Amino acid sequence: MPRILVTGGCGFIGSEFIRQLRREDPSREVINLDLLSYAGNLENLAGLDEDEGYRFVRGDIADADLVRGLFAEGIDEVAHFAAESHVDRSLLGPEVFARTNVEGTLVLLQAAREAWGEGRGRFLMVSTDEVYGSLGETGRFREDTPLDPSSPYSASKAAADLFCQAFHRSWGFPVMVTRCSNNYGPFQFPEKLIPLMIQRASRDQSLPVYGDGMNVRDWIHVEDHCRALRLVLEKGEAGRVYNVGADQEMANLEIVRLILERLGKGGELIEFVADRPGHDRRYAMDSERIRGELGWKPERDFAAGLAETVDWYLENRGWWERIISGEYRRFYERLYGGS
Ligand code: NAD
Ligand code: TYD
Repeated sequence: MPRILVTGGCGFIGSEFIRQLRREDPSREVINLDLLSYAGNLENLAGLDEDEGYRFVRGDIADADLVRGLFAEGIDEVAHFAAESHVDRSLLGPEVFARTNVEGTLVLLQAAREAWGEGRGRFLMVSTDEVYGSLGETGRFREDTPLDPSSPYSASKAAADLFCQAFHRSWGFPVMVTRCSNNYGPFQFPEKLIPLMIQRASRDQSLPVYGDGMNVRDWIHVEDHCRALRLVLEKGEAGRVYNVGADQEMANLEIVRLILERLGKGGELIEFVADRPGHDRRYAMDSERIRGELGWKPERDFAAGLAETVDWYLENRGWWERIISGEYRRFYERLYGGS
């Protein structure tokens, strides 16, 4: 039975990827390697407790002995999600971004190369559109747009992305890189724009909008992203980069207003706060390559997907309340003895 190592499978996107894999292709065995950082949550995969084709390993992708040990068991594919993922945190403390996003990726690449030799394996690197830096009023990122990252987060992802390409150029290492735009949907950690605004608005707390609120992000539903990732893993060309986007540009302020509307609340909760340092103004994706070459297209409508996401957070209040209260971290400390 083919075995896939998924890293960071207890996070927002990795958990959706694993749910899709187990549902759509149960012939693959899944090993989920996740450190359970502040963003990792076993509850995201609660439905898989009894699934024999799924195994959870708690550990750090930068721990070379641990990672080599997993490859020694026989790994056929890797889908690499594990990362520190929040721009604001990277401004407060960039070091862990270098360790996890850069060193951790390198450890995985080295272990895979050693284990696979020539002609075996498939490695999917989940990169981001933020590696391209910022756009002005017009234009879209293409795969050949030069990398120009602004934040410590995007710099660390760009480094990892380039290591992957260097491994392909140097040794023909079978890696595909995807660069996706901003994701939304259920299970997103409540520090990111959409879940942050939903949970705060639902409690009548102020909604901190950075700068003038006119920064633009290109939104995609996490399910569409994960379908794209499964396709690239299966059919993508080694050494190739694929942009993933759903042509859904939206200013932050507009998103906040849509959330408030869904919640039946007024704009008085909006509070304009100091801008994020180095705040990228606009992201927009050209994803013609993956559409043309692999036949992918997004299926989720943004307005409906956002409304459904707002409802999910209202219906799953316990999930984010446990996160915000710190209850789930205390649980892991008890479960794993703080190790
Ligand atoms: P997330 O923060 O929700 O989850 C990250 C996961 O990685 C968590 O489960 C965490 O415990 C785990 N992790 C962190 N450090 C680790 C380590 N050292 N070893 C093992 N596991 C570790 O992130 P996400 O939003 O699900 O993003 C997943 C990936 O997708 C990231 O690589 C991110 O850069 C990329 N990405 C995210 C977006 C987005 O909009 N969220 C867009 C494009 C690309
Ligand atoms: P975020 O969800 O952090 O994603 P990224 O920075 O990776 O795109 O932020 C999305 C946008 O929302 C970004 O332009 C910053 C803005 N933002 C706010 O205005 N207020 C907030 O409290 C947060 C977290 C983000």
